[in-house]
Order: sequence, then C-alpha cells, then structure tokens
Amino acid sequence: SQLPDDLFEAIATLKQDLNAVILAHYYQDPDIQDVADYIGDSLGLSRQAADTDAEVIVFAGVHFMAETAKILNPHKLVLLPDLDAGCSLADSCPPEAFAAFKAAHPDHLVVSYINCTAAIKAMSDIICTSSNAVDIVNQIPLDQPIIFAPDRNLGRYVMEQTGRELLLWDGSCIVHENFSEKKLVQLQVQHPEAEIIAHPECETPVLRHAHYIGSTTALLKYAQQSQGNSFVVATEPGIIHQMQKAMPDKTFIAAPPTGTCACNECPHMRLNTLEKLYLAMSQRQPEITLPEDIRLAALKPIERMLAMSR
Ligand code: 13P
Ligand code: SF4
Repeated sequence: SQLPDDLFEAIATLKQDLNAVILAHYYQDPDIQDVADYIGDSLGLSRQAADTDAEVIVFAGVHFMAETAKILNPHKLVLLPDLDAGCSLADSCPPEAFAAFKAAHPDHLVVSYINCTAAIKAMSDIICTSSNAVDIVNQIPLDQPIIFAPDRNLGRYVMEQTGRELLLWDGSCIVHENFSEKKLVQLQVQHPEAEIIAHPECETPVLRHAHYIGSTTALLKYAQQSQGNSFVVATEPGIIHQMQKAMPDKTFIAAPPTGTCACNECPHMRLNTLEKLYLAMSQRQPEITLPEDIRLAALKPIERMLAMSR
C-alpha cells in the first residue's frame, strides 16, 4: 500500500483522528520513540495504559506489553504494529509446563515478571517488573515460599537483594544473555572513568561489574543524577537514544555483545517500524484480543502489582 511522504506528520494526524495515545518502550527504533506520547519501562507503560483517556492505544513494544494494556483496557482498541513482536523470555515459559511446575509446589506463591504471556499471568498471584521486583518480594511474609518466573537472571538478582530463597523458573532473555563479560572488562580498561550500568536481566558475571543495576527508566535516571560523564550501557541499545537526548554532553557506550553479532538490539522489539506503526493506525489493525476468562484471571495479579507499587 501507498505510504505518505511524511510519516511523522501522517502519524500525528491519525493520532488526533483516532483519539489515540502512542506508548513506546525504550527498546524501540529511535524514530518510533520520537512519535511516542510516552516512553517508559514496563511499569511506567502499564501505569500509562491503566490511566489513559485515549480511545485507542497504539503500543510500540512487544506482544506481552500490548497484551497487558488490553488486559487493563478491555473496551479499548489496542494496536501492535507487528503481531510477531514476541519475547524470548515470554516464550521460555510455556503454559502447560508452567502449570505442572506450579502444581508440583502447591504451597508456593507465584510472582511472575511481566515479561510473560497472559496465560502465565493468569496462573500468577502477583506480577512484577524489573523496577519493583525487589520491593514486591520484600512485601511478602518471610515464611511464604515463592516461585519466581520466568527470568532466572532477574530472579537471582532479587534473591541477592532480598536475601530470600526463590524457586526459579529457568527462563532468560536472549538479548541480555548476549553481553560478553570479557569484552566488557576490556572496555573498562579502555574507559576507566566510565560507569557500567546494567539491566538485571543480564547474567551474574556481567552484573558483578556493574556500578548500578536497574530497569530501563532507573538506568536513565541514574545517568542523569550521576556526577559521571560516561557510561557503558548493558541493556538493549535503543535506550541510548533517550539517554543521549536527555544528556547531550555525556557519553554512552553500548556494552559489547558476545560472538560476531554487531549489537544487542532485540530482534522482537525491532520488528516494529515507523511504517508498520503508520499502517496499524491507518488500518486499525493488527489488534490485540484475548479470551475474557484469561483476561480476568490475568488482571488480578497485575492490579495487585499496581496496588503494591504505588
Ligand atoms: P524494563 O523496561 O521494564 O526494564 O524491561 C526491560 C525489558 O527487557 C523489556 O522487554
Ligand atoms: Fe524479551 Fe529480552 Fe526482547 Fe525484552 S529485550 S522483549 S525481555 S527478548
């Protein structure tokens, strides 16, 4: 189909016509970030989705994020530019296998990282994100055993921070497991002044070198309030666009990947393009839909999270 010459202008017009809000994650292509009404981490995006007055939510992120927006807004049209934008972490936790795992530990409370499908959320007691996981686990009585799913790296980090034992599901994110500790150490020798800031989805050997660990929004805020002028960023490099915009005088270096990959862009996040975003808005599809019984069951642990992290 024919694309307009100026996609930015066409998207702005469609946004008004549709009474739409564009929510984007930091890992989106910089062009998409530039047309978004709100850019944030998973918790911020969920809060925006819960509070928006817009009739249409255009979600520039991956499927589980748009699905969370739909769970919170059953009567709104929720568009995802590319329905194939999935998540390796969500895929690493298939519902049948997780149901069996949960059934084998009936006394455990299930805390699930928001990076999972609605089917997993429906089997969970509380959802968390990377920005509130530690705080949420700390609010659970000490004698209550906990299953933490699906990210073993975030799970291990939460165990360290809370001093609690968690029963971990063995899932992970392909992007955050792809940083090279060896190359990171070499980079640190070249830039001894740089602070390493990392996402808790990274593996322990990488996190060991980090001066600060946090969600995407937390990393951005940390760099803003730090006295330091240069940072090695161990998360998806899309966030460097906002870091550079907010702090033009500071230097941001993407942490090096292992192997021969050029960078750590998330192949799922990057399926969305400005063109697909425009097409989704003009055609009012692809739309997120989900069965009402799953939606209602998945809503409860999300609402619990929002109430526990106000
Ligand atoms: P946050 O933005 O919540 O830190 O999540 C990172 C991530 O991997 C999202 O897919
Ligand atoms: Fe999933 Fe990792 Fe991509 Fe985030 S960066 S969407 S956790 S694969």
